[in-house]
Amino acid sequence: MTLRGLAGKVAVVTGAAGGLGRATVERLAEEGVQVVAVDLDEGAAKAVAAAVPGDAVGVGADVATEDGVNAYMQAAVAAFGQVDLHHLNAGIAGSLTDLVDVSVEEWDKVMAVNLRGPFLGVRAAFRHYLERGSVGSIVVTSSIAGLRGSNDLLAYTTSKHGTVGLVHGAAVYGGPIGVRVNAVAPGIVPTPIFGEAGMADMRRRAATSPLRRAGRPDEVAATVAFLLSDEATYVTGEILSVDGGASVQNTNRRGGGAGLWDVSVTDDALLERHRAGDASR
Ligand SMILES: NC(=O)c1ccc[n+]([C@@H]2O[C@H](COP(=O)([O-])OP(=O)(O)OC[C@H]3O[C@@H](n4cnc5c(N)ncnc54)[C@H](O)[C@@H]3O)[C@@H](O)[C@H]2O)c1
Repeated sequence: MTLRGLAGKVAVVTGAAGGLGRATVERLAEEGVQVVAVDLDEGAAKAVAAAVPGDAVGVGADVATEDGVNAYMQAAVAAFGQVDLHHLNAGIAGSLTDLVDVSVEEWDKVMAVNLRGPFLGVRAAFRHYLERGSVGSIVVTSSIAGLRGSNDLLAYTTSKHGTVGLVHGAAVYGGPIGVRVNAVAPGIVPTPIFGEAGMADMRRRAATSPLRRAGRPDEVAATVAFLLSDEATYVTGEILSVDGGASVQNTNRRGGGAGLWDVSVTDDALLERHRAGDASR
């Protein structure tokens, strides 16, 4: 379990108290990385840090604000002197609301956490490298929803598509100075992101992916660790799917999964509402 170039480095992981973030904290700690576990839930972040081997600290911060990002960077420098690696992973799902009902409040909230958060994190990382004349590696958590659309989760889908642009632009910016920026695009990995009921539904839906199962947090964490490590020194600007093949199947073909979904379930409700002219909000 040794990936070149990780041991002795310092990493920030945001959303560290959640399913995927926690798995990255654990994997990086096992690789000998000093980890700063950041989450809105300070107590949970500290508990995650306390549970892993080696030096790790937990920090409570809101990644959607400049103050929050400054706070976690300062805490990291205070604890370990510098930051080399960043997994900008904190995110929220938003609701499964119909497009016509999505509120401005929800839209802004999801964008703030899922897109402004990684932007602020990437900017802080580059400012930190600039101040120190150092370099490092950054991984953003995008999603299969950053590559494909669905008729729900509109704000989430838009925010995750936005992270693709962020990663492409930051990779082009960072390349000449030796900073690599990549993303993972997980498919379905049962975590608390959709609540307890959502976990069972995630497992059911994951059975339609080519590998016919949901992913595990440690499988995403292994990919993040690889991208952050010196095993991936010629990889930058990449959006690496960790989705059991879900994003490459053609669901309009029988052999690609057609028939696994009853489209009438969503279409009937949508058409009925449209015909009835139901514009209630
Ligand atoms: N689980 C999946 O199937 C899946 C698939 C694709 C992408 N993702 C993405 O992976 C990332 C992690 O999701 P997860 O499944 O581990 O969800 P999760 O809900 O288990 O964890 C998310 C964590 O982020 C924290 N957080 C939320 N808002 C924050 C903020 N403003 N500042 C700091 N921390 C904040 C939460 O407290 C939580 O601990 C998210 O960006 C999510 O969109 C997840």
